[in-house]
Amino acid sequence: MLRTVSIATAMVASLGFAALAIAATAPKPALAARSERGSLPRFPDFGQLPPPEVITPDRVFRLAQDFPKALPPPEPAVQRILAIDFRKDWQGYMAATLAYILEGNIENRALSDTFFLEDNKARPWYHVPWQHWGDNGREGLHGLTAEGPVNPHVLNPLQQNQWAAYAVGFYNARGGYTIGQVWQDANNPRIDAVVRDGGFPIGTVVAKLLFTTAPVAEAPLLSNPIEWSAYVKDKFSAPGPTGLPINPRHLASVRLLQVDMMVRDPRADATGGWVFGTWIYNGLQAKVRAPGQTFDNRWRNLMPLGIAWGNDPTVTSFPGGNPAPLKTITNPDLKETVISTDPALPPMHLGYGLRLSGAVDNVESSCKSCHSAAQYPAISNILPGFSMKNGRYLTPKDPEWMRWFRNLKPTEAFDAGAVSTDNSLQLAGSIQNFLAAGNITSGGLYATQYYKGRKIESIYGSRGMTKHSK
Ligand code: HEC
Repeated sequence: MLRTVSIATAMVASLGFAALAIAATAPKPALAARSERGSLPRFPDFGQLPPPEVITPDRVFRLAQDFPKALPPPEPAVQRILAIDFRKDWQGYMAATLAYILEGNIENRALSDTFFLEDNKARPWYHVPWQHWGDNGREGLHGLTAEGPVNPHVLNPLQQNQWAAYAVGFYNARGGYTIGQVWQDANNPRIDAVVRDGGFPIGTVVAKLLFTTAPVAEAPLLSNPIEWSAYVKDKFSAPGPTGLPINPRHLASVRLLQVDMMVRDPRADATGGWVFGTWIYNGLQAKVRAPGQTFDNRWRNLMPLGIAWGNDPTVTSFPGGNPAPLKTITNPDLKETVISTDPALPPMHLGYGLRLSGAVDNVESSCKSCHSAAQYPAISNILPGFSMKNGRYLTPKDPEWMRWFRNLKPTEAFDAGAVSTDNSLQLAGSIQNFLAAGNITSGGLYATQYYKGRKIESIYGSRGMTKHSK
């Protein structure tokens, strides 16, 4: 175990700083350390681990990074998902996708040992590199990155305190191929590879597990929790003015709150190509073991909240949404979203115009809205409410607001002058982190902060922001 840690640390040192000589915008200098295909440097597994006097963990997070070099054929399990018409049977579609995500990741092991992707005998999954970097970067126990704040009352009217959200995302082999195309040379990411290949391949499935530091007492839906021990900050914070953390990390339990999915499905081609869906953990159902299963399977408490295959670009009704919900309300004008009406679901705020958005996501956004801004450079903020016009923040009354609710094609960037990463905010963020890391030691070589006089927005830390708490 200690050996693993020291390898990871050594990688930070060797990769970090051999990487610097390549600039995104400057001509490429000849580089002695430049990797050749087939002998790629490995990416660091994580950036944050408790010191040995606090814990010597049995195992640490390993970044799944053996990206396929050739595009793998779609698996039968994926073909079965794509055969279901999500418009007619959205719950069947989501159930098949959840089974695919869980298979091989949860069976016959303790909850604390779930989702170590290298243990999966059913299929490979892959992580996006360069999420380790920075104060909010990946921790070393489960690979979780700090997502954003969980503001008071978001989970429940009784929630008194602000907590934080932590998450880990992963791509199936079809998606892993695209990650490997972008990161084929660890010193020189190919930002254009996603567009070159027409976006992620059909049959790409992406999943993300989202945990919170909130205790069960403040959010009864977390009862009978799926808990992981992780190296986290209880409350979300961006680094302070010196770059140092404001809240130090400590070892704490985090509880599963939400699971997200994205499926690249040709039936959604006319509305942007992807089907987004999300499940909420409702432990009040107290499901623990499935009939006939001997292991703890409280993943069965995940309830589908809904699915969205388009952003309904012309729908402007319900602009105030449902920010402090006592019950979930739905918008009948939305034709590209379905929200569950199951009375057993905890009340949900949803997003702008009641589009699909997660339990801890911004109420003036939607899954597709944030993800449509996956591009490099990040010229626009992922959230409309954080974007400026004439020195003030946009509101739903501004015509520009609806730019965040377009059905962009996979290869279409949100802003002119940027390159799309086809809805992958982790890929966009990995490039942003890579260049930002280089900029620290060779300031000026990497033009990362500005694009034509406009400040580049940060992809990280915006999820879960309430209005202008930034
Ligand atoms: C407020 C903006 C925002 C909203 C709303 C949002 N996301 Fe994301 N999402 C992000 C960011 C930023 C990342 C990348 C950082 C990370 O994963 O930690 C991300 C990552 C993901 C990933 C991992 C794949 C990737 O690289 O982009 C999935 C899957 C995902 N989100 C699904 C969803 C679903 C489903 C919803 C709606 C229920 C949703 N997201 C709503 C901002 C958002």
